[in-house]
Parts: sequence; C-alpha cells; structure tokens
Amino acid sequence: MVLNDVNEALEVLRTKTGKTPEIGLILGSGLGELADHIADSDAVPYHDLPHFPEPTVAGHKGRFVLGKLKGKSVIAMQGRYHHYEGYSLRQVAFPVAVMKAAGIKTLLVTNAAGGINLNFAPGDLMLITDHINMLDGSPLIGPNDDAFGPRFPDMSGAYTPALIEQAEDVASRAGIHLQKGVYLATSGPQYETPAEIRMMRTLGADAVGMSTVPEVIAAAHAGLSVLGISCITNMASGILDQPLSHHEVIETAERVKEHFTQLVEGIIGQL
Ligand code: HPA
Repeated sequence: MVLNDVNEALEVLRTKTGKTPEIGLILGSGLGELADHIADSDAVPYHDLPHFPEPTVAGHKGRFVLGKLKGKSVIAMQGRYHHYEGYSLRQVAFPVAVMKAAGIKTLLVTNAAGGINLNFAPGDLMLITDHINMLDGSPLIGPNDDAFGPRFPDMSGAYTPALIEQAEDVASRAGIHLQKGVYLATSGPQYETPAEIRMMRTLGADAVGMSTVPEVIAAAHAGLSVLGISCITNMASGILDQPLSHHEVIETAERVKEHFTQLVEGIIGQL
C-alpha cells in the first residue's frame, strides 16, 4: 500500500468521525444489515474518501459504519470491493490498510461461499482455517512500504488460531453448529465448472468464493489478527444436479442471517 494514499484517506475519515475503532468488520453478501446494529454510529460513504473507488454491485452499500457493537469500538465495511468488478487487488485490499491506520488490531471477515466439502450443506457456517489464493496475483505486488509490513510476509498463521478457538467456544455455548475449512479464492464472476470444483477438492479446498483473500493477505501483512467466516450458501458446481444461481446465494444468506449475526456479535463481545 502507498502510505501517502492511506494517510490521505485516514485524514478525511477523521474529519467525518472522531471514533477510534479497535475491531474491523468486512460484511459479505447478506450480512450487511449487521451494520444496522451498531450503536451511536457514524456512516462514511467510500465516495467521500480519497483513493476509494466507486462500488458497482447492486445491494452493496459501500460505506464504513463506525460505532459500538457489544460494547466494542468497531468499524464495519458495509459493502466491499471485488476483483471481478474490475478493481485491482491493491484497490480491493486498500480499505484494510485504512482501517489498520485508523487503529484496528483485529479484522473479522465474512463472505458467501460454495461448499466443496461433501460433508457441508447450504446454510452451514465455516470458520476459515487457511486459504488458497487462485486469484491472478497479490495485493502486495508493487513497492513495499515497510511502515505496513515486511516485503515477504509470513502467511502460516494468517487466520489467528486463538480467534478460531474463541469463535468455536462462542458457537458451542450458543448451540450454533460450525464447520471449519480451507477457503479458495477465484476471481469469478462466473461460477466454477464441475471439473474445476473436482480440482479444487483435490487441492484441499473446502469452500470457494470470490472475495476475502486479498483483504486477509493485506491484514496479515499489516500484523492484524484475523477471523474469517464463510456462509456456505450453496453446494459448489457439479455436486447437486442443479445449476448455480446468485438468487440461491442471496436466499441462503438471508435464511441464516440471524445465526450468522448472533455468532459474529457473540465473538465481538468476547474480544
Ligand atoms: N462459487 C464461487 N463463489 C461463490 C459461490 C460458489 O459456488 N457461492 C457463493 N459465492
């Protein structure tokens, strides 16, 4: 990331809100409403901030919401950037650098994903234990600013084990069933072919989606603790005898929203 761009965005953010967040939230498909639970909130549209591109996907609001959730100071991204919209991976990850500069120590990332693991079912929530990057590059390609992190960052603990344990604890006390697994990121926007899904399963992926990995790479680079949760909205291509649709993804995300929200809020309360 370019430190100057991040600082310029931060400077404007600080003129819009005096809040100092400790936890960042990236809200994926269907979870955007969680931002409405944030108390005493300030909303800052991305288009008010320098170096933030305009979002293009309908239904994605495209703003930061800062305030209190379960007594914690949070900054939530209501709407995120996707590589398939035409944004570079650096652009997709840029808000993470801004949230880090704003003060966050922990990043909680959510997404919708297709289930590759045959033991999964639509509606399952999966804690991400690791990822496979099948995007066409990295958000860290280009000059490295040592103020953010090292040129060659370690990714072996990108999904913070202690946070995974905490999330499992919260889920078991709330009676929420959780899966765990490896998230594989592809650019999309087309869904995968059945042959691609068989390949991904062979490679060790449990779920596939079109987001999250650029943001997590940037977060790990910047030394943030990360927790990732996927909502398995559908079984991946070729598993069931039916075509995939965005409609199904939205419908399932809507169906499990309550559990998902309860889990995320429970985890934030524990942080
Ligand atoms: N593939 C890729 N991305 C997705 C899927 C899928 O099956 N479901 C939700 N996001």
